[in-house]
Amino acid sequence: MGNVVVIGSQWGDEGKGKIVDWLSERADVVVRFQGGHNAGHTLVVDGVSYKLSLLPSGLVRSGKLSVIGNGVVFDPHAFVAERKRLEGQGVTIDPTTLRIADNAALILSIHRELDATRESANAGTKIGTTGRGIGPAYEDKVGRRAIRVMDLAHPESLPERIERLLAHHNALRRGLGQEEIETSALLEELTSVADEIVPFMDRVWRLLDERRKAGARILFEGAQGTLLDIDHGTYPFVTSSNTVSGQAAAGSGLGPGSVGFVLGITKAYTTRVGEGPFPSEQDNEVGTFLGERGREFGTVTGRKRRCGWFDAVLVRQAVAVNGIDGLALTKLDVLDGLEEIKVVVGYKLNGKTIDYFPASLSEQRQVEPIYESFEGWQETTAGARRWSDLPAQAVKYVRHIEELVEAPVTLLSTSPERDDTILVRDPFQD
Ligand code: GDP
Ligand code: IMO
Ligand code: MG
Repeated sequence: MGNVVVIGSQWGDEGKGKIVDWLSERADVVVRFQGGHNAGHTLVVDGVSYKLSLLPSGLVRSGKLSVIGNGVVFDPHAFVAERKRLEGQGVTIDPTTLRIADNAALILSIHRELDATRESANAGTKIGTTGRGIGPAYEDKVGRRAIRVMDLAHPESLPERIERLLAHHNALRRGLGQEEIETSALLEELTSVADEIVPFMDRVWRLLDERRKAGARILFEGAQGTLLDIDHGTYPFVTSSNTVSGQAAAGSGLGPGSVGFVLGITKAYTTRVGEGPFPSEQDNEVGTFLGERGREFGTVTGRKRRCGWFDAVLVRQAVAVNGIDGLALTKLDVLDGLEEIKVVVGYKLNGKTIDYFPASLSEQRQVEPIYESFEGWQETTAGARRWSDLPAQAVKYVRHIEELVEAPVTLLSTSPERDDTILVRDPFQD
């Protein structure tokens, strides 16, 4: 019996939170391994909605241990706010249910401000970020000047670390015509929150190693999606972390052999938030239909998501770069009632047909999708809990997607509600 990693196979918002919550019944430990509170996951349990950004979706079920791994960029003030909000909904968040890696890098106010400055007009390429400071925090981590969770437990060393960080940031701020930041201001920002974080801090690599040896089942919870991956995505319109399954090991401190089954969460159509290429985008009545029926508004920023047809070329590429063993196909119900459903099966580029998404931004913008057309179904799939409840045409659509992307459907989701989920094959048993 292995572990499972859940990753998004498109541009995020595929329904990872719902699937992690559903699967966590079968898991002992749920681990976030990248990203931060740019993620926004909505879970619906018996009609009650829970919205999680930084916290692992496994927290909503009692009796599970949730872990924030070293690969995450951790905003301590966002943590305190999210904890309070979820505790208000009856979720238990204490050191018995949650641990935070001592070696995770922190997101600070200077990162949020820099994110906002870069996104403002005339500052270069606007990415359409979530404004959470994710990119600048990862830059400081890679630049070897980040302040990390463990530093909160060593207040005596903080001023020196802050000065080192500010030597870089104040130079940038001067260049941008902004006021410099005093060491004392950042020190206050950190010391005011340290007591809320330090009790959760742990040597996560060891904790996970011990749990693994004791036979615990681990569920790795990815955020964002493959096309937002810093290497494999639509660069530069991406997030600043590796979102692919390979990151589950590095971002939690376990070896790659511990990762196990790779479950690619995949929407039955495509959405994207923020800027960047999107070949199958439908900026027309089809996109409006998908957006309204699928309630495609961002959990974090409330932005309208761009909508389009399912792109089998992109998902097939995601199957390859993640080593996806099975798909969790979500939001099939959103397609109910459409006369015609289209799927991208290839692209035309400079008069040639290609079966991959090119790496170059200009080519990504130039590709023209080649569509295959399907007859839709008029029956409802919403809330279906058995395969036999699905209309024949819907089954045909699912089977065709499996063939096109070269991966089997392991789970099928038919509504936001936890139990409106069809299990085809248990990924933990694989
Ligand atoms: P995540 O970021 O991948 O966790 O996805 P989000 O939570 O941001 O977006 C997915 C949205 O679709 C959420 O509002 C879910 O409640 C909802 N959802 C998930 N699965 C289904 C489904 O099968 N059908 C419908 N209609 N909604 C779903
Ligand atoms: P979940 O986990 C969808 C997008 C942003 C922007 C780009 C960079 O809910 O699927 P960032 O703030 O990360 O620097 O923004 O990435 N983005 C997401 N889009 N779902 C997400 O997370 C996202 N997290 C970041 O919209 O285009
Ligand atoms: Mg989301």
